[in-house]
Amino acid sequence: MESTFSSKPSHMNRETEEIYEKMDWNNLGFGLTPTDYIYVMESTNGGIFSEGTLKPYGNIDINPAASVLNYGQGLFEGMKAYRREDGGIQLFRPEENALRMQKGAERLLMAAPSVEQFVNAVKQTVLANKRWVPPCGKGSLYIRPLLFGSGAVMGINPAPESTFLIFTCPLGNFYKGGSAPMNLLIEESVPRAFPEGTGGLKNISNYSPVFSVAKEAKAKGFSDVLFLDAVDHKYVEEVSSCNIFIVKGNVISTPETLGTILPGITRKSIIEIARDLGLQAEERKVPVEDVLDADEVFCSGTAVGISPVGSVTYHDKRVEFKTGEGTVSQKLFDMLRGIQTGALEDKHGWAVRI
Ligand code: COI
Repeated sequence: MESTFSSKPSHMNRETEEIYEKMDWNNLGFGLTPTDYIYVMESTNGGIFSEGTLKPYGNIDINPAASVLNYGQGLFEGMKAYRREDGGIQLFRPEENALRMQKGAERLLMAAPSVEQFVNAVKQTVLANKRWVPPCGKGSLYIRPLLFGSGAVMGINPAPESTFLIFTCPLGNFYKGGSAPMNLLIEESVPRAFPEGTGGLKNISNYSPVFSVAKEAKAKGFSDVLFLDAVDHKYVEEVSSCNIFIVKGNVISTPETLGTILPGITRKSIIEIARDLGLQAEERKVPVEDVLDADEVFCSGTAVGISPVGSVTYHDKRVEFKTGEGTVSQKLFDMLRGIQTGALEDKHGWAVRI
């Protein structure tokens, strides 16, 4: 098989150096900053991955008939590396991302790296880019593992070879308003996912179909869109990039993952942390009415972390929620971020120091 990747050294290295010198670590947003290295590992026709390598960050060569380009045979993951107060670096539950990628690969008929290959590759990539891990409390190094059908196919068939690639990028807040509460629009006409579809996987093609509705909502001043289920149009599912939780008294509830909702690793961790804090945590169908009646609403995801929702608008009716000091979402955020950055005891053994 011809390599998917050019062996040319990255033309971006000088440019990258200049970018590094000018980095404003106090004001990181959610834009792409090229870092030093990517990690690449290719599978052979038999589905076995060869030894992966680090390569300078840069463009990749790809066959025009690659199945990812033609048939969307691709998955991605989102993870973060955090700078600890003592200057060390740690990952958060990386094996969970590896397992989720394997599940997606099974559905898309692609070979996937083993958990060990995945976690080792992530560690190597972060260490190679360690100067880009922001100082403690200023952001994190976002890690984007991709798995895609890179082999050429003409018929509607899975690619004979797949490629596992990781790139990284230092990031701050996901939403434009920084850590300000989000204002969500409940979208009724376009669902994000369908029963028996791929909404519960990190399939690359889950994201672009909702670009237009999210763009329209943002043009009207909303931070993002909260989607409803595709059958009854009355249960909330998720936001275009993250899961949703509601808080009522000491109960937190989030939509159950029955195939249309992404089983977020932050989501799963919040459920466990909430129980540690003495809250009741439920996974169930969440009707829109329960959202409108909640004390608090918040979003969760690797990119967004835990983001409070200040308002939800449904049928032109805007309902506001508690945010800020003393809220449940603030307590969960403090606990989660403390574990992720090594400031708090990690009794679940979620942190992986590298
Ligand atoms: C993440 O939270 O890491 C995601 O993958 C969501 C992405 C659309 C930004």
